[in-house]
Amino acid sequence: MSDSDSNAGPPPKKLFIKTYGCQMNVYDSERMAESLGTQGYVTTDVAADADMILLNTCHIREKAAEKMYSELGRLKPLKADKPDLKIGVAGCVAQAEGAEIIRRQPMVDLVVGPQSYHRLPAMEQAVARGEKALDTDFPEDDKFDTLKSRSKAKRGPTAFLTVQEGCDKFCAFCVVPYTRGAEFSRPADRIIREAHELVEAGVREITLLGQNVNAYHGHAGGLAGLIWDLDKVDGLKRIRFTTSHPNDMDDALIDAHGTCDKLMPYLHLPVQSGSDKVLKAMNRKHTRDQYFALIERIRAARPDLLLSGDFIVGFPGETEADFEDTMDLVRTVGYGQAYSFKYSTRPGTPAAERAQVDEDVKLERLHRLQALLGDQQRAIQASMIGRTVKVLFEKKGRESGQMIGKSEYLHAVFADTTDVAIGDLRKVKIVKSESNSLGGEIC
Ligand code: 5AD
Ligand code: SF4
Repeated sequence: MSDSDSNAGPPPKKLFIKTYGCQMNVYDSERMAESLGTQGYVTTDVAADADMILLNTCHIREKAAEKMYSELGRLKPLKADKPDLKIGVAGCVAQAEGAEIIRRQPMVDLVVGPQSYHRLPAMEQAVARGEKALDTDFPEDDKFDTLKSRSKAKRGPTAFLTVQEGCDKFCAFCVVPYTRGAEFSRPADRIIREAHELVEAGVREITLLGQNVNAYHGHAGGLAGLIWDLDKVDGLKRIRFTTSHPNDMDDALIDAHGTCDKLMPYLHLPVQSGSDKVLKAMNRKHTRDQYFALIERIRAARPDLLLSGDFIVGFPGETEADFEDTMDLVRTVGYGQAYSFKYSTRPGTPAAERAQVDEDVKLERLHRLQALLGDQQRAIQASMIGRTVKVLFEKKGRESGQMIGKSEYLHAVFADTTDVAIGDLRKVKIVKSESNSLGGEIC
């Protein structure tokens, strides 16, 4: 046996995670991978090579469970070839379906909800002993306390950092308060520590995540207080946050948009509908005029802020006039970026019980809204031509000699250049607008 052989430990086990849904799931997948690292796992991009496959699921819209069961069906041949392959389901579908998943699909070894994934190492050990492992508790202990420090390994220049989870708003269409539970804010000192760890690993831009991030209360000064503390982290160049509720945009946060240089001029502030009647039925707890007034205040603080939003069409009871109110709101506000969805019935939520709008009516409204939002996005992109923005370069482009990054406004910007490295922050003059990106020249 050679020296190197005698020093070698067991070969690492490989973990493949497929992530669905929101950015918080992206963050959770990273943390799950780090947590399973303690059990000797390293991640792989190839499912066929894996010793464990985790599906990190999303439950926000219809057919989430069906999609997960068909994905599990597709994994069957892999499990047949490799009986030791461990298969797990994580995320919000795991939370909602629980033991039903193992009952319907017995090849699943492990089901873990979003609040319990710090217990994955013990669950993995149970599975290795041939047991099934199920944990969909809302434990008293803070999972972030139990999770180890962030990996020191070098990473890309942008990262997500979860600061708040859960929601107490109970919008009538939404499953989040049920799958993610009550609002919980992580203490600010732990977040700052994690931010330092990320910066040491090469991160330059952090996006603070929460289902209701601007309701964050782990700092005496709220989310704005946390942002100002992060502003002091050396080496951190940019701060963003998502997703916000209009009613939690307090004065300090609005003010920070005008005064904190590291806070980027981009805000995702979903309104969902432009009709007062629908807003009330959705339990959004504000009117369209209150939303307009809020946007005016935010734009007074930061005139060049790029606004993004979420919209739902075909909510139960939405008439053509209500939908026209949404179109009118969009025309009045002007969005640089937006996500729009047909209302999707979520069992257990109040709106699921109400009379539904026809599918074809929903689809037709969605098309009209998306056409308008697309026009606005293109117009705002075109208005960037001739302007100089600052781009944080994140990766090489598809063509050789091309680099891609994001501007302050979260526009993807590509530039032909050979003297820019990943992680560089450079001034770029925008020269063209394409469907989902801008082209520029390094200044
Ligand atoms: N149907 C359609 N869209 C929904 N969203 C949340 N729940 C539903 C639902 N039942 C959308 C909202 C939210 C975004 C994350 O997903 O617009 O802001
Ligand atoms: Fe869902 Fe957001 Fe409403 Fe909370 S505020 S219930 S997460 S849509």
